[in-house]
Amino acid sequence: MGSCRDIAARMVAPGKGILAADESIGTMSSRLEKAGVEATAENRRRYRVLLSSAQGLSDGASGIIFCDETLGQTFDDGTAFAEAVNNLGILPGIKVDTGAKPCPGLPGETVTEGLDGLAGRLEHYAEIGAAFAKWRAVYVIDAGEGLPSDGAIRSNANALARYAAACQAAGIVPIVEPEVLMDGSHSIQDCAAATAKVHEAVREELALLNVDLAGIVLKPNMIIEGKDAADESTPDQVAEATVEVLRAWPDELAGVAFLSGGQSPERATANLEAMQRHDTPWPLTFSFGRALVDPALAAWHGDSSLVEAGQKALSDRVAANAAAVRTRQPA
Ligand code: G3H
Repeated sequence: MGSCRDIAARMVAPGKGILAADESIGTMSSRLEKAGVEATAENRRRYRVLLSSAQGLSDGASGIIFCDETLGQTFDDGTAFAEAVNNLGILPGIKVDTGAKPCPGLPGETVTEGLDGLAGRLEHYAEIGAAFAKWRAVYVIDAGEGLPSDGAIRSNANALARYAAACQAAGIVPIVEPEVLMDGSHSIQDCAAATAKVHEAVREELALLNVDLAGIVLKPNMIIEGKDAADESTPDQVAEATVEVLRAWPDELAGVAFLSGGQSPERATANLEAMQRHDTPWPLTFSFGRALVDPALAAWHGDSSLVEAGQKALSDRVAANAAAVRTRQPA
């Protein structure tokens, strides 16, 4: 495996994005049950095999993020997931945080855990072929309560930086994911203000731990109004507000790969396309979860005769987002 800088550049290569298929066992189980599929380890494996082996996936996806359970499983022919997707020309990644947990002292807010034993786990993941990792910090906006609080912003930024530094020490590229949630009725301006504060703290903590920005991929939320807000911003408004917040990041950052955050698949793609009309020093691509996999799960819903339909639904979304990213004009 190459250096963190080389791997990060591959992850955000022109016209490519990253598939987030790393739902925890609990989240994946409830999504399967909602789709009418029994939540067993075997069904979670079948679903991830379906996604990973979709025809032509590597044309638009540079990498796939998995959870620990999946990296311990195999394709139908017995090949371990990391090796199987590598053989398909796709970088395997691993979610290493253990979830956002209530933060003592900060009612209504969370801090993401998973630092204990992280170095050892990263060593193991590198041995079994993981090229990159992911850690997601979560922030709520509640203007009335002054959230996100400085405490949540600082605690999560510190954990993200400790995670990122540990990844680079293990030769694994960290995806740094500070997610300001769409929950609530806040305005696009509220989202911009909260996200800018969150990013500032993340940059400070990364710098304090000497994290090489050319060897990380930033995975932020788009700047967007809350899902219960009265008015919906246009793609141009979302893109302009998002790029304005991102401009505080230095040029050497390897790239930005957005999460979808609960937007519909079509809206996430339209917003991503509008981003490409802005001239930025770093590529702006996708690392969507729900906006890529929801249509696939709905089309398949556990029926082995519908594997191809599920794969086509995924491939179509990946192709649409890759096409959106390819509208970027070369500098
Ligand atoms: O951590 C969350 C995923 O990596 C992205 O998921 O696109 O559904 O927000 P999402």
